[in-house]
Amino acid sequence: MKKEVIKGADRLENMYFSPVRQVLEKAAEISQQGHAVIPFSAGEPDFDTPSQIKEDTIAAIEGNLTHYAPNRGVLALRAEISKSLESHCGVYYDPKDEIILTAGGAEAVNNAFLAFINPGDEVIIFTPAFMNYENMIAMAGGVMVAIPLEKKDEFQINIEKVKANITPKTKMIVVNNPCNPTGVVYKKEILQQLSEVAIEHNLLVFSDEIYNEICYDGEECCSIASFKGMKERTITMNGFSKSYAMTGWRLGILASHVDIITKLLKIHQYTTTCTPTFIQHGLVTAMNSSRTVQEKKEMLQAFTRRRTLLLEGLDEIGSLSYIKPMGAFYVFVDVSKTGMTGEEYASRLLEEKYVATVPGIKLGKECGDFIRISFATSDENIKEGLKRMKEFEAEYMKNQ
Ligand SMILES: Cc1ncc(COP(=O)(O)O)c(C=O)c1O
Repeated sequence: MKKEVIKGADRLENMYFSPVRQVLEKAAEISQQGHAVIPFSAGEPDFDTPSQIKEDTIAAIEGNLTHYAPNRGVLALRAEISKSLESHCGVYYDPKDEIILTAGGAEAVNNAFLAFINPGDEVIIFTPAFMNYENMIAMAGGVMVAIPLEKKDEFQINIEKVKANITPKTKMIVVNNPCNPTGVVYKKEILQQLSEVAIEHNLLVFSDEIYNEICYDGEECCSIASFKGMKERTITMNGFSKSYAMTGWRLGILASHVDIITKLLKIHQYTTTCTPTFIQHGLVTAMNSSRTVQEKKEMLQAFTRRRTLLLEGLDEIGSLSYIKPMGAFYVFVDVSKTGMTGEEYASRLLEEKYVATVPGIKLGKECGDFIRISFATSDENIKEGLKRMKEFEAEYMKNQ
């Protein structure tokens, strides 16, 4: 092994590089060899950012709105965000002191764990989960307590298991609703029960609602902060990456009771100071404009169509099964009937058929039977990806 010149900080020991990025890098390598890779691995919409947001941001740069913004963000944008959160979550956040704009949802996760987790504090995570949680808990010196979500429960939260995992050291529960990677939207009554547990044990809830505007078949995503007594113990996270197709712009949202926001602000102030000023100005009028609303609606229609296309195709592959996703843009597929682990399946599918998916094991230790497929890609890619998956099935069935 190469000798290390400078040793990294101890806190790096429990952190790992993103497994999704590793798949993307491997897919890029295969693509450079001249193969057309189907990107079922990406966690980002393939749509362009709504046109008015782009135009208004360019105008903001040309108008020289390029200086520091307030730490919390431009007040006029916080006011627009407050309106949007109230209509989607049913909770009012005062634009003055209950909202902070962050560098993507990722900074919001970072700030929440650094502001509230002491070394040794336990944080409940429902797995499979977005891997930033585990790594940020490790960075803060906390202890992740994983509660596996099970296919037999349709990946809904089991409250009895939550109760059984609470100890005097439990500080926070993380809920990602709708969930990446299962696509599950948590039932209102389950969230109500979870809120009662949080109140009874004086716990903080981190509610990652970054996919809350991407729901299907009339499903509505309930915000846990909307239950009585929860706003003051919930950090609501959201952002522009997914529902506005703005992953590269890096704009996330933290909303909570002023007492919590003030603590988060301390970390945010020294992490990024503020997010880019011209982007914030570009969003003030455009984020809730009728043009943007229409373009977002078209994106949701496309996701809805692609979901149907993908699920119908998967249904034709006898060895695969899944719980129908009601939100986000992922399907968590059980491949156990193929006789392969999710890791083996994903790796062979990529190397033999050039279809990139994410092995479930990377998102939860008990998810070895699963792969994550993202349908945030074109209809053509979905059709082609399914065609290759069917060929793959025919070949491995023949060789069994
Ligand atoms: C559940 C979840 N939360 C947060 C994020 C982070 O979003 P952002 O790209 O805004 O940092 C993602 C991105 O994949 C996600 O899936």
